[in-house]
Amino acid sequence: MAEKIKILVIGGTGYIGKFIVEAAAKSGHLTFLLVREATLSNPAKSNIIENFKNSGVKFVIGDIYDHQSLVKAIKEVDVVISTVGHGQLADQDKIISAIKEAGNVKRFFPSEFGNDVDRVHAVEPAKSAFEIKAKIRRAVEAAGIPYTYVSSNFFAGYFLPTLSQPGATAPPRDKVIILGDGNPKAVFNNEDDIGTYTIKAVDDPRTLNKILYIRPPLNTYSFNDLVSLWERKIGKTLERIYVPEEQLLKNIQESAVPINVVLAISHSVFVKGDHTNFEIKPSFGAEASELYPDVKYTTVDEYLNRFV
Ligand SMILES: NC(=O)c1ccc[n+]([C@@H]2O[C@H](COP(=O)([O-])OP(=O)(O)OC[C@H]3O[C@@H](n4cnc5c(N)ncnc54)[C@H](OP(=O)(O)O)[C@@H]3O)[C@@H](O)[C@H]2O)c1
Repeated sequence: MAEKIKILVIGGTGYIGKFIVEAAAKSGHLTFLLVREATLSNPAKSNIIENFKNSGVKFVIGDIYDHQSLVKAIKEVDVVISTVGHGQLADQDKIISAIKEAGNVKRFFPSEFGNDVDRVHAVEPAKSAFEIKAKIRRAVEAAGIPYTYVSSNFFAGYFLPTLSQPGATAPPRDKVIILGDGNPKAVFNNEDDIGTYTIKAVDDPRTLNKILYIRPPLNTYSFNDLVSLWERKIGKTLERIYVPEEQLLKNIQESAVPINVVLAISHSVFVKGDHTNFEIKPSFGAEASELYPDVKYTTVDEYLNRFV
């Protein structure tokens, strides 16, 4: 590595944040974590905190709702990566203000890590959730902050351990529910790989002011093909129960939070095909496994082996 970069992660004790922090620390970059005092003393987070300490991560006490703490932390680094969760997505305008005031940041990664929110065909309540991220994109661009948006598609850990079956704790062995006709292709990425690709992009001119799509060919499956792959592994044919779009839309309307959110995101991905229904053009983005062919990513096929 030519130059050590200083990276600040905000939200690094969260689900995807911890993989980003680990990848940053492993890469040899100087890794800082903005963390609230209460988190440092939270017993539920003590393992993560301990692991970070052992990896050489530096802790900076702060809060996105404390402007001065944000500006102070940001002034010390080159790159800011936000991995804040659902409740704080809209409040990332506070990070944008602090980056503007600090004036030194070479790259900002807002909390995205999902669909490309400018290219979705979602119904409520996913529609509004995606719009919040799109609004943050527009604010970053209006502020003239150099950015990369990471469209990581699905976190494997959220979907593959149950093949996305509601209420299940393991992949199905008798019957499987498939939303829509099961033909649109979705993308499932191992969280470690999402961390690795994100950190590779921090100083890559090819990802400057672009969307980094994590859409590796071996992780791109239609639901029908995913089920066939699983069937081959367990040597059994499953009964496939298809839920027509009309029924799914009704289910979304009749479900409460958070089931309706999960169903609406599933509708966007599995029925509308929003992970893959557009071509990645060099004018707005690049695909991670093409940019970084040296990364040996975990394939869906490999991932599913652990459940056989
Ligand atoms: N593609 C997918 O399959 C998928 C699935 C889920 C989420 N996502 C996306 O991934 C991104 C991250 O979501 P997540 O579920 O990983 O988040 P999460 O687990 O909820 O983590 C949120 C993080 O933000 C921190 N935080 C909360 N309030 C804060 C504050 N006031 N100041 C500073 N830090 C604060 C939390 O600290 P504590 O540790 O103290 O709580 C935690 O580290 C989101 O954009 C989400 O939409 C994608």
